[in-house]
Amino acid sequence: MNPRIAIIGGSGLQALPGLKLVEQIPATTIWGLPSTPVQAGTLDGVELLFLPRHGGARAIPPHRVNYRANIAALAELGARQVFAFNAVGGIDADFPAGTLAVPDQIIDYTWGREHSFWADDTGELLHVDFTQPYDGGARECLLRGARAAGVPVVPRGVYAATQGPRLESAAEIRRLRQDGCDLVGMTGMPEAALAREKNLAYASLALVVNMAAGISAAEITMAEIRAVMAREIPRAVRTLAAAAAHAAGELRTP
Ligand code: HPA
Repeated sequence: MNPRIAIIGGSGLQALPGLKLVEQIPATTIWGLPSTPVQAGTLDGVELLFLPRHGGARAIPPHRVNYRANIAALAELGARQVFAFNAVGGIDADFPAGTLAVPDQIIDYTWGREHSFWADDTGELLHVDFTQPYDGGARECLLRGARAAGVPVVPRGVYAATQGPRLESAAEIRRLRQDGCDLVGMTGMPEAALAREKNLAYASLALVVNMAAGISAAEITMAEIRAVMAREIPRAVRTLAAAAAHAAGELRTP
């Protein structure tokens, strides 16, 4: 097997339904161990790698994920295109709970995370272009995949990456809204930037699992989040599978 496509699972997607596992690869990198061994297998006949970023039982919180090891492991195993799944809160009214979106911009509010492969004396310093933080081709695969799977997605969105693991205050969400953010999650960064540093074509499929703090009057509960996930994850998986199939077709015809 030589999969070129990878899927990074997020909250609610610790296992990839439908994945026919061929191999568990205990990857090690100079940055440490990825969240789990990388799973190599086929999804609807498409060869791919799967890595749940929170580990098996969602044990690793967002600020403790070894993003560098995860991205380095996928790159070293030959991934070229990465579809990341992110559970998020909805800030804008266009993104109610249950919405799937393919964000096109990102703002990083995280801190204290190892956010670059060039953080140490590891070689020449690179300032990678991040004007478009998500890869256009990978986004297109997600959008076409969604269309092929008959799954409605919002084809845009500014993703705010917050530190977590707590949810935000209402005032923090008001500030994010003023900054132009539509979605808020805890894992979009530094993952997207690290993927760019490794020259991986990376895009995100974001599932809105709750309205962000203060947007609705109700308190945000894990029960509500889990209920949305249980209902909507199958649509996300269908989209990811169709996106991977589309990407595999493009990689075959360079
Ligand atoms: N805020 C931050 N991250 C999240 C949220 C949220 O409301 N929902 C799911 N991930």
